Amino acid sequence: MAAGKGTRMKSRLPKVLQRLAGKPLLGHVLDTASLLQARSAVVITGHGAEEVEAAVVKRNTGLPVKFVRQEPQLGTGHAVQQAVPVLADDGLVVVLSGDVPLTQAETLTALMACVQGSSGQPYRLALLTLEMSDPTGYGRIVRTAHGDTVQAIVEQKDASPEQLKIQEVYSGIMAVPAKQLKVWLAKLDNQNAQGEYYLTDVVKWAVADGVDVVAHRIQDEVQVTGVNSPQQLAQLERAYQLQKANELMVQGVRLADPARLDLRGNLTCGTDVEIDVNCIFEGSVRLGDGVRIGPNCVIANADIAAGAVVHAFTHIDGEKAGVTVGEGALIGPFARLRPGAQLGPEVHIGNFVEVKNSTLAKGAKANHLAYLGDATVGERVNYGAGSITANYDGANKHRTIIEDDVHIGSNCVLIAPVTIGAGGTVGGGSAISKNTAPGALSVARGRQTSIADWQRPKKKST
Ligand code: UD1
Ligand code: CA
Repeated sequence: MAAGKGTRMKSRLPKVLQRLAGKPLLGHVLDTASLLQARSAVVITGHGAEEVEAAVVKRNTGLPVKFVRQEPQLGTGHAVQQAVPVLADDGLVVVLSGDVPLTQAETLTALMACVQGSSGQPYRLALLTLEMSDPTGYGRIVRTAHGDTVQAIVEQKDASPEQLKIQEVYSGIMAVPAKQLKVWLAKLDNQNAQGEYYLTDVVKWAVADGVDVVAHRIQDEVQVTGVNSPQQLAQLERAYQLQKANELMVQGVRLADPARLDLRGNLTCGTDVEIDVNCIFEGSVRLGDGVRIGPNCVIANADIAAGAVVHAFTHIDGEKAGVTVGEGALIGPFARLRPGAQLGPEVHIGNFVEVKNSTLAKGAKANHLAYLGDATVGERVNYGAGSITANYDGANKHRTIIEDDVHIGSNCVLIAPVTIGAGGTVGGGSAISKNTAPGALSVARGRQTSIADWQRPKKKST
């Protein structure tokens, strides 16, 4: 179900497209569904339908997705009714909410197993429930006198004072054979306090048909918490992040503060990895053995080899091309590595140095205020402060090749395409536009002239 508006988000964006851990809420739900060996997912859209559908198609979870529209939105039962034409009779339906992102696949697998009766009766209706200290607002689970099966779900607004005391609530998630679901959905009406078609009323019709309704009760509230407001979104985000931080620490990763880590993708760590406070990891990041990440770094789509150290405030974003950092490299503070930066072992990249689509071989250094774009840099090259590759002529990008053991002075401009021959030196302040021979010293700047005893102009007296 992804048709709701999410009024309390006060956002232009449909609620199910709000992001948790960098991924749309609905993306979390579909990714989980894809782990269930589902034949297909049916996404019921309404508010912002086109935007939601486009976002799902673009993400492509691997699971075949069908869309149905619910317009207008007359309740959860009405929502699922829209899906009836695309549900195969021999299927098992798991109803999920697009705004409940953190349900675990194992929980849903256990719920689905409840549908299969132990013996005799083949099918049951299975509800995911949990006990809440404050059940306000939720549908209450009304059980039979002996307590093992469920009789009804009563919504908050329809409940008697006695029923309001029930602490077991319906999570909004159920598993049910499609064939029976269709029969029961056809019987729903909107004769209730909210004038809505309640999906929860299928319980009543299952009971009338003599079908057992069972509750699979879990403890973990986070798995069934929905997002209705920015506050709830932030709370769930923190719960998710703390869970991820704990998983990392269980693997041996040392986090300076588990409350100050944000994972928006997949982080794989070797042994003895240390991560200081306020770091954000996005996309796919791998940190080798003994890697240390300083405080306030943002690292996306990068592979950082063993023993490398990334100092404070470094920004690495490999996007599609990726970034690789070699063993024992030292990066930052305040470095910026962009897509296609491939740094070999023991490379040093210092403060305010930007590297894009460039390869730096073992031991190359660019320590201060520099730009390397579309460059191939050899071993042990020293690239001076303030030097840049002029890789773009306004229309096309060109490569700069700096061979092994070259020394580039400070404040040089290497105008690509250009090659600096092995072992060569480029004098500070040079603008180099022609290839240089190996071993040569190249200087390309105005010669220094000095005029002795120079008299500066004086202010006129008025
Ligand atoms: C529903 C359950 C309630 C349960 C609670 C758990 C019903 C009648 N009640 O209540 O028992 O405790 O969830 O969170 O089902 N939606 C649509 N179309 C609609 C209405 C809703 O797609 O016409 C979607 C919403 O966007 C949301 C989900 O269905 O993703 C649940 O709707 P919501 O209004 O939050 O249900 P509740 O009234 O909270
Ligand atoms: Ca709700």
